[in-house]
Formats: sequence, structure tokens, C-alpha cells
Amino acid sequence: MKVLVTGGTGYIGAHTVVELLDKNFTVDIVDNLNNSKEEVVDAIIEITKKKPAFFNIDLTDLALTEKYFNDNKPDAVIHFAAHKAVGLSVENPLEFYRNNFMSLINVLYCCKKYNAGSFVFSSSCSVYSDPDSLPISELAPVKKGKISLWQY
Ligand SMILES: NC(=O)c1ccc[n+]([C@@H]2O[C@H](COP(=O)([O-])OP(=O)(O)OC[C@H]3O[C@@H](n4cnc5c(N)ncnc54)[C@H](O)[C@@H]3O)[C@@H](O)[C@H]2O)c1
Repeated sequence: MKVLVTGGTGYIGAHTVVELLDKNFTVDIVDNLNNSKEEVVDAIIEITKKKPAFFNIDLTDLALTEKYFNDNKPDAVIHFAAHKAVGLSVENPLEFYRNNFMSLINVLYCCKKYNAGSFVFSSSCSVYSDPDSLPISELAPVKKGKISLWQY
């Protein structure tokens, strides 16, 4: 089974790629290196002794995103590619909306068109505010209101 990890040279993405390779999935990474370095791929290879395919693609570019899906046909997608810095998102919200929404919409469009069967989206634990219990389960209620600073 081939899993596409978008943002796969980023913080969470790279750890996810290591876990997937250790469990013998075939892994493709798509990342535009906006907030990471291609050397991360070498570190992943050193840890796992396996080689993920790396594609330097900006997912806000639909034509390039479609070309990746058409050429490589992933079975599943785990989507981590996004801007995440809370402070910068407040300074420049439009750029965050542009990057994060356009990437997400392009990836979802391609999942449907090219039959990627599963899609996992990495949201933010901030949506749970102060959780009732830890660790937070996927069934935990989404809460409005106060967001704790520790979550950042
Ligand atoms: N770090 C955390 O503790 C945490 C917790 C919960 C959720 N998340 C969410 O998980 C996601 C990943 O977080 P992270 O900490 O790994 O961030 P990160 O910045 O380390 O990784 C994100 C990766 O996405 C890439 N990227 C950004 N825009 C792109 C684009 N248009 N096309 C291709 N690649 C692009 C960046 O180059 C980077 O390598 C974010 O959505 C974040 O909000 C993070």
C-alpha cells in the first residue's frame, strides 16, 4: 500500500514517515520545503534503512498536484502540509488561508479524482480547548471559547 504524506519533511510528517516505513508501507513525501529541509529525507533513510520517494511540489499548484497523483496513484493520504505558526497566522491571515485551504482543496480534489481511498487530516488539539481527559480521544467534544496557551 502506498501512502502519500504531505508535509512529510516537516516535524510531525517526518516522524509519521518513519513509522509508516517501519511498518513496510511504501511512502511518498510531497513537500515544498517552505518550513523544512530536504536533508530530512536523508535522516529518514538513515533511521529506517528505507527510502521514501520525495517530490518538491507546492500543493497550492493544482496542475503539479494532479501530475503527482496521476503519475504515482497513492492509495491513501495523510495531510500535514500547512503553515502552522499561530503568531504569523494572526499577522498574515490571508496567506495562511491561501496556503492551507488551497492545498487542502487541491489534495481532496485529487484524492477523489485519482481514487485515493483514505484521507487523514491533521487538525489542531486547540479545537478541544481544555480537554475533559487526557490523552484526548477522537471522540472528545469540540469546544468553543478559551484556548490554553500551553497548547501552543
Ligand atoms: N506540531 C504540533 O504539535 C501539531 C499538533 C497538532 C496538529 N498539528 C498540525 O499538523 C500539521 C503539521 O504540523 P508540523 O508541526 O509538522 O508543521 P511543519 O511546519 O513542521 O510541517 C509542515 C510541512 O508542510 C510543508 N508545507 C507547507 N505548505 C505547503 C505547501 N503549500 N505545499 C507543500 N508543502 C507545504 C512545509 O514545508 C513543512 O515541511 C499542521 O497543520 C499543524 O497545524 C501540529
